[in-house]
This record gives sequence, C-alpha cells and structure tokens, in this order.
Amino acid sequence: MSTYDPIAFLFGGMEKLGPGGNAHTLHVLHLLSKGQFPVIVDAGCGAGRQTMVLAKELGTLVHAVDSYEPFLNDLTRRAADAGIEHLVQTHCMDMKDIPDVFQHIDLLWSEGAAYNIGFANALTTWARAIKPDGFAVVSELAWLRERVPDTAREFFLSGYPDMQHITQNIAVAEGAGYNVLDTYTLPKEAWVEAYYDILEPRANALVDHSDRSVRDFARETVKEIEIFRTSEDSYGYVFYVLQRV
Ligand SMILES: C[S@@+](CC[C@H](N)C(=O)[O-])C[C@H]1O[C@@H](n2cnc3c(N)ncnc32)[C@H](O)[C@@H]1O
Repeated sequence: MSTYDPIAFLFGGMEKLGPGGNAHTLHVLHLLSKGQFPVIVDAGCGAGRQTMVLAKELGTLVHAVDSYEPFLNDLTRRAADAGIEHLVQTHCMDMKDIPDVFQHIDLLWSEGAAYNIGFANALTTWARAIKPDGFAVVSELAWLRERVPDTAREFFLSGYPDMQHITQNIAVAEGAGYNVLDTYTLPKEAWVEAYYDILEPRANALVDHSDRSVRDFARETVKEIEIFRTSEDSYGYVFYVLQRV
C-alpha cells in the first residue's frame, strides 16, 4: 500500500479544488430569489472557497460537508482567519448520508462534487433532505456542443462515462423532484485562474515521482489539462439552480 497521499501532493493547500470562482458563486446565488435560508448545507465543500462566500454574503451558518478531513481543517483555519468561524460548521461525512443528518434544508449547495456519488443519485438523495420549495444549486460537468474532439470524447468515456448534455441533466433534475429555475455555465477562465494554473506546474513536477499512485494521479492531471486546452469548448461546468417541488 502507498504511504503517500496523492490528493495531498496535488491539491494540498489549494483554495479552489475545482473550476469556479467567488464572483461566479455570487452570481449564481443572486439568481435565487432573495430570502432567508436558515439551514444551508455545502456538499463536497473541499477547502470551502464557496462555503466562505455563502457564509459572508448571507451572514448565515453554513454546514460544510466533506469526507476528506484535511480539506475541512483548511476551511476551519481560513474561516477563523477571516473572522467568520461562527458561520462555518464542518462535518466529516459522506455526502450520500446528508438526509440522515439534515432533514429540513433550505439551501443545498454543491460545486464540482455531486459527480462523486453520481449527479442523478445526488439529486435524488438530497431531495429527501430539502424542504418543499427549498433550493438546490448543484454544478456538474456537461457536454456543451455536438461536435467534440475525439481526444476529449475518449478521455471522458473512460474518466466520466456518465457525462451528459445540459438538456439531459435538466430532465434528470426534473425527474428527481425539482423545478429548474436557471442554469449558468462557468467561463473558461474559471478553470484556469487559481486552479489549472496552480495544478499544472505541480502535476508536471510529480510525473516521475517514486510513488506510483502519486505519479499516476499527476500524469492523469496533466492529461486532463491538455484535453481541456484542446477541447474547443465542447464541455464545461454548468450550475443547475433548482427548487424542490
Ligand atoms: C472537485 S472537489 C470540489 C471542492 C469544492 N466544492 C470546490 O469547488 O473547491 C470535490 C470534493 O468532494 C469531496 N468528496 C468526494 N466524495 C465525497 C463524498 N462521498 N462525500 C463527501 N465529500 C466527498 C472531495 O473530498 C472534494 O473535496
């Protein structure tokens, strides 16, 4: 068994663990009708970039759920540094168990994380925990065009075969018990700034690491970034702004 943790090597200390950005989180938040969200859960919060944006903007406690404790420790430290530790509560748990812990969620937020338990499964599972008329904001990878370069199609066929078009994901959300209020596609720079531009040199420096799991993860990351660069905008990250029926 490996004594190295490839996630710590690649992502350790990073604020953004996926495509996104504070301005985009705020933009999508403002697509929701203004109101109170007494119970907010951020599923797959990672190091909590978006958790902190939500907590600051809404002035409400955000329950930050992730299964990887070092990310939650980073979030706790950052929240304290920003003076908002009273607005962030971390929960080290599997996001599929959210309905066992929270039963009356007003706003379920999840950026770049639902795929870990499957987009459709995540929406169905979380629907049990969201109040009637409550909201879910979930981002998910999607094909954006019919014409997809072969390299990108092959990469995701093995890496993420469940990837769908936006219209299919909208149908999935409706089938899971939500009205789709809006969608928002992240611009390209949200993948690069403070994400790929940090990750790429790190991954390049680790492609010949002595530990196989670190080496493999680094090589896969380098490949992912190269695929993105040559993707001709054929895929992207899309937010689905949903209201529980
Ligand atoms: C790509 S990162 C996104 C993190 C953060 N939302 C962001 O955009 O920076 C996905 C996160 O999901 C977490 N995760 C993966 N599977 C999980 C699970 N089953 N339950 C809870 N968290 C999970 C990972 O630890 C990681 O922090």
